Amino acid sequence: MPEVSRKISCHIRSAAPYTPVLNFMPSLSHHSLGFPEHFTWGVATAAPQIEGAAFEDGKGESTWDRFSRQPGCVHNGDTLDTACDHYHRYEEDIALMASLGVKNYRLSLAWPRIIPGEDGVVNRKGLDFYHRLFDCMDRHGITPWVTMYHWDTPQWLEEIGGWRNRRTAEEFGRYAEVIVREFTGRVKHWITINEIRCFTMFAYGTVLEKSPAIRETPQVLNQTIHHALVAHGLGVRAVREHGGAGALVGLTDNAEYYVPVEETEEHIAATRKAFAFENDRILGAVYHGRYTETFLNACGADRPVVTEGDFDLIGLPTDFLGLNIYSGTFVRATADGGYQTLPFPPGYPATTLTGWLKTLPQAIYWGTRLAHEVYGAKVVYITENGYGTIEEPDARGEIIDLHRRDYLRQYLLELRRAIGDGVPVKGYFCWSFMDNFEWQDGYSIRFGIVYTDYKTLRRTPKLSARWYSTVMRENRVV
Ligand code: FCB
Repeated sequence: MPEVSRKISCHIRSAAPYTPVLNFMPSLSHHSLGFPEHFTWGVATAAPQIEGAAFEDGKGESTWDRFSRQPGCVHNGDTLDTACDHYHRYEEDIALMASLGVKNYRLSLAWPRIIPGEDGVVNRKGLDFYHRLFDCMDRHGITPWVTMYHWDTPQWLEEIGGWRNRRTAEEFGRYAEVIVREFTGRVKHWITINEIRCFTMFAYGTVLEKSPAIRETPQVLNQTIHHALVAHGLGVRAVREHGGAGALVGLTDNAEYYVPVEETEEHIAATRKAFAFENDRILGAVYHGRYTETFLNACGADRPVVTEGDFDLIGLPTDFLGLNIYSGTFVRATADGGYQTLPFPPGYPATTLTGWLKTLPQAIYWGTRLAHEVYGAKVVYITENGYGTIEEPDARGEIIDLHRRDYLRQYLLELRRAIGDGVPVKGYFCWSFMDNFEWQDGYSIRFGIVYTDYKTLRRTPKLSARWYSTVMRENRVV
């Protein structure tokens, strides 16, 4: 969400040295629309956005359950109580996925469903729900890609400081161990944490749209990010120690994505500098196993407190990098060897009804390429990419979402270009399988390729679902 985070970040103009690791190997023709053999195609959701059953079978309150009840925090006062009622309708949902040819499904586990309270007691009914879900996916030949944490912190932790308090990272570590041990052999693909920026910078920063939306000082904000990084490390360690043979683990980041105004050497170099500077606080920490001097200097007195051993966890090697890519920002080189970010010119056709999501397909090319070049990420998955809007069925009950289809198509073409240029992207998950609770926008903004009627809870595949089904089946952009 660069629009938002631009306001938070400060820009430097010094040139950082870099060593490109990219080998251009156009072994796949630039003109071909085909993807490599064994490319992973999938769809994505997250527990708090679809499950509902917010207080059923022993589930504890999450920060979003609480936040959505605070007046003015979520559009229309929408809550997560029922959402898509996936908790009760998962069989229908998995069957629908299978009918569309989905083979990989990224979902998240609800932490407060599994360890609801401060006493740390594990809720058997919570674990059993996910066993039933995985059984059903097995029957349909769908592989789970499981996010441990997609923003639904147990509310009791928020009350003792949430991510400001190191205890949240420690409790996360224990939760990670419980779920990895429980699902060893069933789950082979783990994502520790989804989008650190969203539950730190947009929750305790200058932009307050995500729970708990309480402004903190820059130092406290940096500390929340640090605690989230420690939690990520504990998640990686849980998979290494208890995940069983062949278990893979990675972080999903919504990095800052930059696109050169023109694809010339000087603007590309400037874009690389912007990417490194803005992403060092998260990707740099994970991939370098330390905070860079540039980052620490930019923090000054507000730098996070690092406890001995933290970077042994944060820097643990991962198996892949998940990137959620929706949008980006244009960058150009400046005369003094620095860079400048540019607003979209008036009338540029980027706007969507979400406010934050601007259509910039090249972001997926440059985002994946620079993650590979700057941080050496050897295996990259697009863990989310999608289009949100306000939409209703037409008179015939159909949802002809041409805007979504064309948005996705343009992004896939740019992703295909990246792969053709040697960027090691191994898979793509479309956000989202179905319309769901879109955080501060409640149910007003729809991201699904399947339409959810929130009154009847009926699911209807949109035009984009039929199109994406063909893409997955034919392994090429159509
Ligand atoms: C991402 C979130 C995901 C969804 C999409 C639209 O930032 O990870 O849950 O809300 O945006």
